[in-house]
This record gives sequence, structure tokens and C-alpha cells, in this order.
Amino acid sequence: MKFKKKILCIGAGYVGGPTMAMIAYKCPEYKVNVVDINPERISEWNSGKLPIYEPGLDEIVKAARGRNLFFNTDIEKGIKEADIIFVSVNTPTKKYGAGAGMAADLQYWEKTARQILECSESPKIIVEKSTLPVKTALAMERILTSTDNGIHFEVLSNPEFLAEGTAVKDLENPDRVLIGSSQTEEGLKARDELIEIYENWVPKERIITTNVWSSELSKLVANAFLAQRISSINAISELCEKTDADITEVSKAVGLDSRIGSKFLNASVGFGGSCFQKDILNLVYLCRHYGLDQVADYWEGVVKINDYQKDRFVLNMLKAMFNTLAGKKVCLFGFAFKANTGDTRESPAITVSRKLIEEKAELRITDPEALNNARNDLKDIKGKISFIEDPYEAASGSHAIAIMTEWDLYSELDYEKIFQSMNKPAFIFDGRNIADHNKLFEIGFNVYGVGRPPLTHF
Ligand code: UDX
Ligand code: UDX
Repeated sequence: MKFKKKILCIGAGYVGGPTMAMIAYKCPEYKVNVVDINPERISEWNSGKLPIYEPGLDEIVKAARGRNLFFNTDIEKGIKEADIIFVSVNTPTKKYGAGAGMAADLQYWEKTARQILECSESPKIIVEKSTLPVKTALAMERILTSTDNGIHFEVLSNPEFLAEGTAVKDLENPDRVLIGSSQTEEGLKARDELIEIYENWVPKERIITTNVWSSELSKLVANAFLAQRISSINAISELCEKTDADITEVSKAVGLDSRIGSKFLNASVGFGGSCFQKDILNLVYLCRHYGLDQVADYWEGVVKINDYQKDRFVLNMLKAMFNTLAGKKVCLFGFAFKANTGDTRESPAITVSRKLIEEKAELRITDPEALNNARNDLKDIKGKISFIEDPYEAASGSHAIAIMTEWDLYSELDYEKIFQSMNKPAFIFDGRNIADHNKLFEIGFNVYGVGRPPLTHF
């Protein structure tokens, strides 16, 4: 079949994989080729069990794979034949040298830029999907124009706003698609080519265009604002625990103000995921670079409150359980950073597990999708940890349950049965406020939510 255009995506992760599957599904006349340096990941994309769990993803991959959606490891060939290249490689927080713990580690991203330059034989549009510090598109352009090979590369910024667990829904029906381009004739032409792809399913008025830097910055700011709402409500949750207020009631009352809105006001054990912390730290680094220390401090506070919330959760457990966890069995319900994903990157459950092990507790971890990742995240820890698929088995014999992830499953369990199987007094610490606390209390549990006074039998 003759395709209208050939798209390549470098990086078959949580962002590249689903995004390309949706483009291929909606645009049968484009060939969409997804490459990755990790051969195992690619073979999983080609198998019956995809490398990531995402509701609805199997169906769209099955519909497009082999028709106009392809997964392979031949990056060079992919670059040669592509007209449009999406770059979706990971850009974690740097762990070494200048900016360690703050700035983005751009080594994969730069290596990819150089590889594009080396292998290209024809002009290409390069679309930046990875979240990057502002002005990296400019750096990309500088690398790509560093030789006089006569090939024109036009760099666009097109940040992805999908959230894990709802990626397919978000891609199918996005609030907006943002495209940043240079304002030159060539920049605008490239921008229009990308608009043409999205117009296959996204209403025109939701596709917005800006200059490259506004687009790059908007992505960081959107994530910073979302995370800031969670840290704000989590900060208030501590005050609620000390008074007779209930954070669920407060956030409902506050969120009904249409100027504030009700979303992202659920108090929790803390936010996780690969983006929020990394993007805020990028923003902080950028502000410091420009000497804007007050602005940097303001945003850094969002991450500090998040760390504090995770620490506080474990300290509350310790205090409630008579100031010692040594030798006690603690069962974690959920390990993923949020429901409906197997992803555990920056999951609050990692921090909580490490702190519980420091207190010499024995951990029993259960999660419907994230146990393999959990095993990997905790592999360096010396301590007693078991990974158990069945939540009833995991809870049996435990002194306490800590709900870490808001999987529906955990609000639907037979807690009467669970209570019978546990050590007494039995404690439950609901880090997501998803269980029916009054009912649990009636069953006999000592119940500790986030942002509400505890319900205890002593
Ligand atoms: C990544 C970035 O982390 C995020 O900042 C950006 O917004 C989107 O892309 P994600 O897809 O969640 O997010 O990352 P990950 O699941 O780690 O996928 C990246 C993939 O790129 C991996 O499969 C990795 O093997 C691949 N990769 C990495 C390459 O193909 N080449 C490289 O040089 C480096
Ligand atoms: C986020 C952004 O939402 C998305 O637009 C961007 O593209 C990538 O980063 P993601 O990290 O996948 O998406 O999930 P999100 O739903 O934003 O949740 C992030 C974390 O915040 C999770 O740990 C979640 O449990 C937590 N959260 C969310 C709360 O604690 N309370 C809330 O009210 C909402």
C-alpha cells in the first residue's frame, strides 16, 4: 500500500506507544513506525501482551498493527524513510554533575538528535514529544544544523497531555493539542502538516498553535499547576486531622466554586508518576538559572509538601501503632502510582515501603498490575517483603493495611472477612480515602484516613 506520509516515533514507552497507536488507528493513510533501543519492549508491543497496561489500548493496537502501525528496533532504517519523526525518549531527572537532582538528563535525547542527523538523507519534520526544559528545541535545531549536509530539519514542539490509566480516552478526546513552531514560512508549513494529522479526529478549535518556547513552557506549567493543587489540598489535610474538619467535605465545598473547579483536589498519600516531580524540578532549575529565586522557591514548595505528606503518612502509622512497627506485618493495598496502570515510577508506595522497612516492619505487597515493577523498585532493599497477588491472602495475618492506590477493587473487598484474618488490634490507613471508613470502624478496624480525624476503638 502506498502511504500518504511516513511517521517515525523514537521511544516506545508510556507516551510514544499509546500516542502512535492512536495516530495509526485514526489515520490509516499514514504509515506509523515505532522504534526503540529496547528489543524486549518492541517484542512485547508485537505480542498478545503489551508492555504497558492501559484500558482500551489493546483494541486500538490490534486494529492498526500490521496495517499501518509497526514496531521494530531498526532505528536507522526508520529515520531514513520517515517524513515526520516524533521524539519520545525518556528525559529523567539528572543524577550526576551540575544540576543533579533537578535538571533533566538530556543524554538520550541528544544521542537521538545526533542519530537523526547521521542517518537522514532527506528533509524531515522533528516533533518533540518528550517533556524537556524550555529552549531544548533550539538546541535540537542547533545539533541538526551543525553540518552543511543540505538537509532541512524543522523542529516542532507538541507536548503530550495524556494521563496514565486514561491515556486512550485522553488521546481520543483531548482538551487541546498544542503545537509550537517557529514563525518562518518553513516552520508554519511544518506546523500545518502536523495539524493535518490531528484534524483526522480532533476538532479544529482544540488544536492551538504557539511559538516553540510557549509550547515547551506550557507543558511544564500545566503539570506544575496540577501538582500544586494536590500539594495545596494535602497541606490542608494535616490541619483537618488536627481539627474536626474533614478534607473531603472541605475539597467539595471549595471545588464547587466554578473559579476553582472540583478536579485534582483529592487529598492523598502524595502524588507520584514520572512527570509531576520531574517537570516541577525542571521549572525550578530554569527559574534559578535566570536568577528568579523567589519564583523557584514557590514551585519547589510543591515538591517539598509532597515529600512531607509521604513522610507524615508513615509517621502517623508509627504513632498509631504504639510507636513501634518492628516485626509487625504491614500489607500495602496497591503499589502503582495511581489506579488503572501498572506504572510505579515515583509512586508514593516506594517511599512508604522504604520507610516501613527502616522501621523493621515486614511488608506484604499486593497490586493487580504493578507487582513486577514493585519487585524491581524494591530489589535493593534488605528486609522481609512478599509480593502476593490475592489481596485476602496478603492481608491475612497482618497488623495493618495501608491503601496506597485507588484501585476500585480496594473499596469493594469483603473487609469483614479481612478483619477476621488479621492480627488485633487491626489498623487500616487509607492513603486515598476510598474505603467506607464508618463501616470499617463498625467492623472493628481502627481507621486512619488522610485529612480527617481517626476513628479508633481506644
Ligand atoms: C517519556 C519521557 O519520560 C517524558 O518526559 C516525555 O514527556 C515522554 O516520553 P515515557 O514514554 O513515559 O515518557 O517514558 P518511557 O516509558 O521510559 O519510554 C521511553 C522509551 O524510549 C523507552 O522504551 C526507551 O527504551 C526508549 N529510548 C530511550 C530509546 O528508544 N532510545 C534512547 O536513546 C533512549
Ligand atoms: C500527569 C498529567 O495529568 C498529564 O496531563 C501529563 O501529560 C502527565 O502527567 P499522570 O502522571 O499520568 O499525568 O497522572 P495524574 O492523573 O495526573 O496523577 C498524578 C498523581 O497525582 C497520581 O499519583 C495521582 O494519584 C495523584 N493525584 C491526582 C492525587 O493525589 N490527587 C488528585 O486529586 C489527583
